[in-house]
Amino acid sequence: MTSSTFQDTVNEFVLSKDQVQKIIDGLTEELVEGLSTKDPKNITQQPSYITRLPTGQETGLYLAIDMGGTNLRTAAVHLLGDGQVGVTMEKHEITHDLKTGTGEAMFDWIADCTAQLLKSVALDLGTTADLQMGVTFSFALHQTAINRGTVLAMGKGFDLSDVMGKDLKDLLEGGFARKNLPVSVSAIINDTVGTLVSHAYVSPSTKIGVILATGTNAAYIERAADVSKYNGPACDQMILNTEWDAMGKASYLPQTKYDKEIDAVSLVPGFQEFEKMVSGLYMGELVRLSLVDLIERNAIFEFLGGKVPESLKPRLAFKTLFMSTIESENNPEHTAVDHVFKSSFGIEGLTADDRRRVFELVHAVGKRSATMTAAACAALLHKANGASVNLDDANEITTIGIDGSVFEKYPHFSHEMMEALTEILGKDRASRIRLELARDGGCIGAALVAMVSHSGGAV
Ligand code: GLC
Repeated sequence: MTSSTFQDTVNEFVLSKDQVQKIIDGLTEELVEGLSTKDPKNITQQPSYITRLPTGQETGLYLAIDMGGTNLRTAAVHLLGDGQVGVTMEKHEITHDLKTGTGEAMFDWIADCTAQLLKSVALDLGTTADLQMGVTFSFALHQTAINRGTVLAMGKGFDLSDVMGKDLKDLLEGGFARKNLPVSVSAIINDTVGTLVSHAYVSPSTKIGVILATGTNAAYIERAADVSKYNGPACDQMILNTEWDAMGKASYLPQTKYDKEIDAVSLVPGFQEFEKMVSGLYMGELVRLSLVDLIERNAIFEFLGGKVPESLKPRLAFKTLFMSTIESENNPEHTAVDHVFKSSFGIEGLTADDRRRVFELVHAVGKRSATMTAAACAALLHKANGASVNLDDANEITTIGIDGSVFEKYPHFSHEMMEALTEILGKDRASRIRLELARDGGCIGAALVAMVSHSGGAV
């Protein structure tokens, strides 16, 4: 077949101005709707019960855990004041068996990992009163207090029995009690909230926290009076966890047939459709599905004669990391493409055209993710404008703290996001936005919120 067939596939990932505007309008509508809806199925715009950002002057020792889609991090965080922190952190991979086993096994394991951390930092449990722990939970939670919340749908390949609808503080403290650990959960936050809080500790103009990793999501600061579904104690403003991952209703998202396929075979079809188009867990899979289709149509790798190699058949076999490797090579021969296919898939014999095509496909999928994330940030900036953000004041800088491997490691991601933001917001407004890498927001943010909660800075 001709290269136009290949180009058709690539073009499906290239967004028009109109498609980008539809994403912004659709997300804005859902951001507004999420403030009032009491429908328990709508998991967006979750109140965090956090009503102020840290000042940078906080001090004390707090434990923290950060449970993400891939790893569990445990940390002892010393807040030293002046924006300084001392952290001892340990990382444990969450295995497939744990992700798909019982809640009890998962929370026993978390307690074991915490015990290991306490051993490493040599805290004398005999003489310590209850240790306060801040928890970052990178899944949707219906928060009912600063340290309580019921677990909603999990996604990211998790399928734990006996956990949905239960209170996370009870689940965690149950594990700690079974292992005789004197640990109390004093704060539970989403990872985006942790990113916002911890980045504000070092960069006070931070008004939005974004995660771009296995999943994607964002948190921002909203006027409490606008959050009509919130019925807790009175406050002026509050950090909201948008759960923008789950937005994308009424198909304003420009899904290709590959996006639809990813959704259809996922553990929870119809859930997190925005995330499935954007985040690190799925970008590589989009490339794989496109490649399989292109090979079958003989529109790439013609030497295979339309037969898809076994190595390219398993779901998620093409990692987003391979895309980073391919895009980081600044060489028109695209030899990194050869390397990836030879070393990871045993496929050799690519032509110069094949290499260029793989590069173009990878680039289109990566750029779409950056553009869609920029569109989502623009929707959030519009929503917050005039309240926590002022895009029209030439002297006001708004920082978006972004954590996650996609933003950190994917070549040119930040640049492409900024380009898209400039196109959407115009040069002047975009020049007042800073996209900054926020690191380890999970643990430090959780420790900060545990402290803020302890000192009465939360409702
Ligand atoms: C998923 C979770 C969300 C989290 C995001 C980034 O979308 O539902 O809570 O913030 O991943 O880790």
